[in-house]
This record gives sequence, structure tokens and C-alpha cells, in this order.
Amino acid sequence: MVKVTFIEHSGTQHTVEAKPGDSLMQTAQNHSIPGIDADCGGACACATCHVFVADEWIARLPPVSGNEDAMLDVVEERRRGSRLSCQLHADASLDGIVVSLPASQR
Ligand code: FES
Repeated sequence: MVKVTFIEHSGTQHTVEAKPGDSLMQTAQNHSIPGIDADCGGACACATCHVFVADEWIARLPPVSGNEDAMLDVVEERRRGSRLSCQLHADASLDGIVVSLPASQR
């Protein structure tokens, strides 16, 4: 199992276990984390699964694809650590990852 910490915009933290291979979006939904609506079901087409990846984890992630980059261009508050959580899949290398949720996803 892979531990993932989601921090809501309010500051409430949820540390949960992800199944290897599941996306962080699926993991959030499996654990009823508020703020990850995932309207498109993980098709990289809605950006309602936007998260801010903590600085120390950014370089450990796979690169942003062209589709993900285009969708991130439409979010309200894009930052250096912005990613779509449906495009990040849990594996042992991400054990302990921390992501925060934007104010627009409350
Ligand atoms: S769930 Fe729609 S872009 Fe991630």
C-alpha cells in the first residue's frame, strides 16, 4: 500500500492508503475525500481533480502530458506543483506523497 496525504483547503488532513496502480483521484474518491469531484471520471477532461503537489515530490512525478497541461491551463490557480490527480498513479515511489487542494475545490 502507498500512503497519500490530502490536505483540504481548510487545512484538514487525510492520510489514506492507495492501492498500487490506482490514481490519486480514485484514491481520494475511495476514501470520500472532499474536494475531488472528478466530473469526467479520470479522462483528463475536467480538471476538477486538480491538486498542488508538495515541492519535495514534484520532481519524482512523471512529466505533465500535453492533455494534462492543456487542462491545467483552465484551472483558476495554476502553480508549479499543479497536477491532475487522475493522471498520477500510486506506486511505491510515491509512498508518503502530500497533495493540497485548491480553494476552488471545497
Ligand atoms: S477527473 Fe477529470 S481531469 Fe481528472
